[in-house]
Amino acid sequence: MPVVALKEILGRAFEKRYGVGAFNIVDDLTMMAVLDAASETRSPVIIQVSVKTVKFWGARLIQQTFAELASQRPIPATLHLDHCPDVSMIKTCLEAGWNSALFDASSLTYEENLRQTTEVVRFARKLSAGVEGELEAVKGVEDGVGGDLEGELVPIEKCVEFIEATGIDCFAPAIGTAHGMYATEPVINFDRVKEITARKPVPIVLHGGTGLSDDTFRRLIQNGCAKVNISTKLKMQLADSFRTYLENKPKEYDPLKLLKAVQQDVKGMAAGFMDIFGSAGQA
Ligand code: 13P
Repeated sequence: MPVVALKEILGRAFEKRYGVGAFNIVDDLTMMAVLDAASETRSPVIIQVSVKTVKFWGARLIQQTFAELASQRPIPATLHLDHCPDVSMIKTCLEAGWNSALFDASSLTYEENLRQTTEVVRFARKLSAGVEGELEAVKGVEDGVGGDLEGELVPIEKCVEFIEATGIDCFAPAIGTAHGMYATEPVINFDRVKEITARKPVPIVLHGGTGLSDDTFRRLIQNGCAKVNISTKLKMQLADSFRTYLENKPKEYDPLKLLKAVQQDVKGMAAGFMDIFGSAGQA
């Protein structure tokens, strides 16, 4: 199946109450691994990329690699820019053919966030691209973006007003999750997701997926989280796989064997999440 819009992938997931994994890939190897996991489990998938990774490889190279790899696989896939506070970088990515972006204006006032997000949505629409919106900062740092504190909670009516006024395709509220590893058990605000979607049926984005229990994922997805972000776990899997392979085979110098082994591990990790999120079999 060709590349499809974020709105399309999430609309179906929200309606049928499954979650689509949005995996923060770091290169072509991890992108291929996640797309292969999606193909094998017949899952729709979101290839998500941090600003730091875009700066490393360049927006065009990532988009071209995605277009080539996605075209060879029979599942709906979309290319999404994660937490980006920089409007010019969003424009660069969308103009290069990316499908959507998270405009992270959570450090701005409510009014300024609403004004700028509306402009970003207007720009994205001209390119048939999608936008994820955020009002309250998600706790933790995602590849250099973010801080140690969760943003102050915005009243539900204000969230609804923001979603309607901006026209965003999905919304990322603060619900007690955090980027990175959890030092202590997180206190998840399951009801907040339910309350927002009851007032405004829009796909909700679950940030900070690494370290949550299967039950937490399932309950949040049931309440309306249709996009489920996984970043730290992919990075850990990648590093651990390289380390394990090299420690176990210190005399093996065929790089393709090493890369293949690592790719298989990352694929297995992603496929496991696709099963938990209920997206397996939905493509
Ligand atoms: P984790 O790093 O906790 O998996 O969170 C990913 C995320 O929310 C990316 O925006």
